[in-house]
Order: sequence, then C-alpha cells, then structure tokens
Amino acid sequence: MTLHPNIIKLTKVNSIIKKKKSQQPLLSEEINFMVDGYTSENIMDDIMSDWIKAIYDNGMNKDEILSYTKAMLFSGITLDFSYLDGYVIDKHSTGGVGDKVSLILGPILAACGYHVPMIAGRGLEYTGGTIDKLESIPGYNAFLSIENFKKNVEKIGISIMSQTDDICPADKKIYELRDRTKMVASFPLICGSIMSKKIAEGIEGLILDIKVGNGAFMKEISDGKKLGTLLKSVGELYGIKVYPCYTNMDQPLGDYAGLWCEVLESIECLKGNGPEDLMNVIYYLIEKAFYLSGINFNLDEIKGIINDGSALNKFFDMVIAHGGLIKTFEDSKINAPLYKEKIFSIDTGFISFMDTELIGLVLSDLCGRHGNSTNALDPSAGIKFHKKNGNYVDKDDLVMEYFCSNKSNFDNCKYRLQKSFHVQSEYVFKKELIYK
Ligand code: URA
Repeated sequence: MTLHPNIIKLTKVNSIIKKKKSQQPLLSEEINFMVDGYTSENIMDDIMSDWIKAIYDNGMNKDEILSYTKAMLFSGITLDFSYLDGYVIDKHSTGGVGDKVSLILGPILAACGYHVPMIAGRGLEYTGGTIDKLESIPGYNAFLSIENFKKNVEKIGISIMSQTDDICPADKKIYELRDRTKMVASFPLICGSIMSKKIAEGIEGLILDIKVGNGAFMKEISDGKKLGTLLKSVGELYGIKVYPCYTNMDQPLGDYAGLWCEVLESIECLKGNGPEDLMNVIYYLIEKAFYLSGINFNLDEIKGIINDGSALNKFFDMVIAHGGLIKTFEDSKINAPLYKEKIFSIDTGFISFMDTELIGLVLSDLCGRHGNSTNALDPSAGIKFHKKNGNYVDKDDLVMEYFCSNKSNFDNCKYRLQKSFHVQSEYVFKKELIYK
C-alpha cells in the first residue's frame, strides 16, 4: 500500500515531536522540516505549539540551537549593507516593561552617522513591543517592503519595522504563537527569535540589552549571563560583533509604560528631558556601540546631538518615511485616554518592591492584548509612575496613574495595581540599574 504524502508528513511531524518530548536531540533536517512546514502553513498551530512546548520544556543543545536559528534566519531573505560607508549596527532588548530604549537610542545612533536597520517585535506576554508602540503613531507602517526599508537605512540612517513575509517570516509566526501560548522564556526559542532577526539585518555590530529582574524573562543575573553568552556566540558565528549588556528590570524603565505615552516620553528624551534611569541605560548602551565600532565615546557629544535636535529630527524623518503623521505629536487630543484612575499609597515608608511582571500584565489588559496580538490595541493605554523603588511615600501619596479608552479593559485593574508595590518603614537601598 502506498501512503498519501500528507500521511507521511504527519507521521514525520509526530515522530519529531515525540523525539523532543523524550529529550532526544533533533537533527537539523528535522528542525528545518518543522520551521519550514509552519512558515508555509503546512503545519497547523496546534501541532506547532506542541513542538514549541516540547522545546520550551526540554531545551535544546548547542547544535540544535544553531540549526533552529539557521532555519528561522533562512525562512526569509537576508540583507547586505556592505556597500554602505558607515558602520551598520543594531540594539535588541530581551524585553521589559516601559522599555522604549530602541525608540531613542536608534535615532541617536543614526544622528551619530551609524546605519540602524532594526527589525523589532510586538509585545510578548507581560513585556512591551517596539512595533506596538510605533503603531500607536497614526499612519505608521511597520511592514515596509525590503526596498523601502533599505532606502530608509541608507538615506535616514534608521528604519524600524516588524518581521514580514519577506524577512524572518518564521519568527513572525512563531513569535505570535509563543506569545499566545505563553512559551517565551526559553533559551533556544529566544535565541532563534532574536538572532534570526539580527543576522538577517546584515549588521556588523549588535548591542544586546539583556533585561534581568522580576519584569524580565531572565529573573536572575546568572540566567541573563548564560543567555548573553549564547547570543554572542551565535552572532559571532555569522561574523557579527556582539556586546551583551545586562540591565535591571525590577521596576518599569522611565516614567511611563504603554503605547502612545511611551512614544511621547521618547520624544521628550530626544528633546533632552528624559528621566534619569532611562537615559542612563541609553548612554551606557551607546557607549558600548561606540566601543564595538572602535570609536571613542564622549557623553557630552551625545548630549550635544540631543540638544541640537539632530536625534529628534532622525526620529521624525523615520516616522515620516514610514507614513506616520508627526503633526499628531503636537495634538493633545490624539490618543487621549477616555478613562483615568489614580493609585495612592496605603502606607507610609519606602517603596521596597514593584511587581513588574504584574504591572506588565495589567498593562497588557489595558492595551487589550488579552493574549491575542492580532487584535487592534488601544493606543491610549498606559501607566504613569510617580514613585518607584526606594522612593519615600506618605500614606495617600500618588504612586501611579493608569489610563485607556476601553471601559471593559479599564475595569479590574485597580486592585491589581494597588497590590503591585510594597512599602516598608525601613530605608531601602536602590538596586544597581546596570550590571557591569
Ligand atoms: N525578543 C525577541 O525578539 N524574541 C524573543 O523571543 C524575546 C525577546
């Protein structure tokens, strides 16, 4: 009897999943089969999530991780910017809450003369996504053709877009699936996702911002370092210089977390009015970008590029090139939230703990993500932090405000946000922001 080709394929898929579930290493041909099959829609979501879960539960050895990353990378095209004069560089974060660093650091690097072809993602579980934030700008198109993306990188020096059907299509699909099925915090899955995007960009240097803390996927510095070492080794195999940095995510970064509010905060940073913690992370990462490209770092020069408006102009040029309407930044009615609520301290003392993962989950609800990133998000959603770790508060002091424009998303947030921070009477020493 001859079996139908679909039956043969199904049998193969099942045996690959079974093999991974029983903790046996997969061959690169088997990994390719799964990644290609899912990208070409021959393998359905349920079956793929079974395989992804088997990886999530059992991990992968180094050879498998390399094969997985390669399969993700070659699911689409790879770019080549070797014809450009300037240094081609990018920065990628492993994900946090209020982490708008890319929106600020990218334009600053472009204003310094670097080329930054940035492929970014949406929110993952409780962490925010650069693409979701950019899409809160009316008109912003995060799905450019490769031709237009390259043109922006050549002419403006920066373009930030999503994975598309042309570039990293496997990550576009698997990323969304992992978010929906809550299978994010896994070394091989993170490595395949991040490094496929970064290698496909055709960059020479990569700054990694490995977030560590209760609002990050790496809760402990030891895990962060393991991930950083892995990502660096994979990048170097493809000829990319990689500098892993480790920064704290035990509280949201900056004064805001959300969509439009984070874009507005980024603009303030590019005008020289950024909050200290956020700007310190940005300056540190820029210093490492200079180091990778062999250029002496001078903080005053970077501040000069911000103060003379060149970095902000790069941001505006990029937004315009993506179809975004920059006049909306001046219009206070745009993305103005319909519902707002304040959270006050019920104790007197020092803030000793912020449950950043919980804050990220509440924010995700405010935005209307509900685990399905294909829904249109509420751009007006966000949280403003008036106090953070180490700050002194009196009873009834304002700690945070939350806002959005959808009543059902708005309801049920108050109790969780009230529980998202602790106050103690003893003095609290602030944690280091940067693990050097
Ligand atoms: N960022 C990514 O691009 N992918 C991950 O899996 C996690 C963070």
